[in-house]
Amino acid sequence: ERGGYRHFMLKEIMEQPQAVTAALRDRVDFGRGLVTLPDLTLTDRELAGVSRVVLIGCGTSLNAAHVGRHLVERLAGIPAEAESASEFRYREPFLDPSTLVVAIGQSGETADTVAAMETVRQSGARLVTICNAPNSQAARLADHALLMGCGVEIGVASTKTFLSSLTLLNLLAMRLGTARSHLGSAASRKLVEGLARLPGNVAQLLESADDVEPLARSYYGRNNFLYLGRGINAPVATEGALKLKEISYIHAEAYAAGEMKHGPIALIDHAMPTLAIAPQDGLYDKMANNIQEVKARDGDVLAVLTQGDDRLSDLVDHSVFIPETAPNLTPLLATVPLQLFAYHIAVRRGCDVDQPRNLAKSVTVE
Ligand code: F6R
Repeated sequence: ERGGYRHFMLKEIMEQPQAVTAALRDRVDFGRGLVTLPDLTLTDRELAGVSRVVLIGCGTSLNAAHVGRHLVERLAGIPAEAESASEFRYREPFLDPSTLVVAIGQSGETADTVAAMETVRQSGARLVTICNAPNSQAARLADHALLMGCGVEIGVASTKTFLSSLTLLNLLAMRLGTARSHLGSAASRKLVEGLARLPGNVAQLLESADDVEPLARSYYGRNNFLYLGRGINAPVATEGALKLKEISYIHAEAYAAGEMKHGPIALIDHAMPTLAIAPQDGLYDKMANNIQEVKARDGDVLAVLTQGDDRLSDLVDHSVFIPETAPNLTPLLATVPLQLFAYHIAVRRGCDVDQPRNLAKSVTVE
């Protein structure tokens, strides 16, 4: 049942091209270069009336929400915010009928997310869920359920459902952007071309999945890691750190790299390796500076870079390359090597990868 893989987590990492394909299926008109997203049954007029988007979730789904905030602002031009469902539900959140709340969850049963959705329902705001369980509480509570359809995820650490969430968030942001004429047809067509290539990009990345293993062999004995990313990839750093913490029990901290100089830089020395996510996007030069700051303090840097990036690969200690893609899709690619890194480290440390201590697949208590 593990399809020849040693663990469900590895099987599910390897299934990610299909997970992305499933999220795109019947939701994109590739010929016309348009996102249709028919399961979001709101008219263009209703979508154009959305003045604010609030994205909520927990754990990995919260990290997806933070990526989603960037996507909605960038592709739809609508103010957006992301927050942990467990914090959101205990505030008195401002919600009105022009607010669209997007609740993200693999299981659709996370108690904090479900409770937050109940609050939203009473407020009159519109409620969408992105989830992988058609019969879940989340799917029942939402006005619109965008189902991942990527098959059950058995490993406790979320992997393929994260990429599904990110794919669906791209579609949602594009659908909103088109409805309110923020995203023109040429821009939409270009983004759809990127989406069409995405499953192949992820598959290509997985062909060299074994390249990450030697890195794990060199670093599995370390006790602390720092993860750095910026902009849309800052939440990817958080997700990479979360994966490492939960399955290998190694302490890992993630920072938006611009924050490093305000404190965490004091931690850097030879014993503290840094995972840096530095694709060639608008923040590349900023990330390059941050990496230089780490190198200047004798820290090892393992970097996720765009294929062909000789400049940074010469500077860092180890590089893993991702195929070139549109900036809105880099989070999907940059996540994969971080999942594999956490996986191989946990295996080397003899941890129970699929059933990490103290964790349950769905957290139905508060
Ligand atoms: C991370 C992980 C947890 C879940 C979180 C939310 O790998 O498994 O952090 O992401 O408990 O679960 P869902 O997405 O089911 O609401």
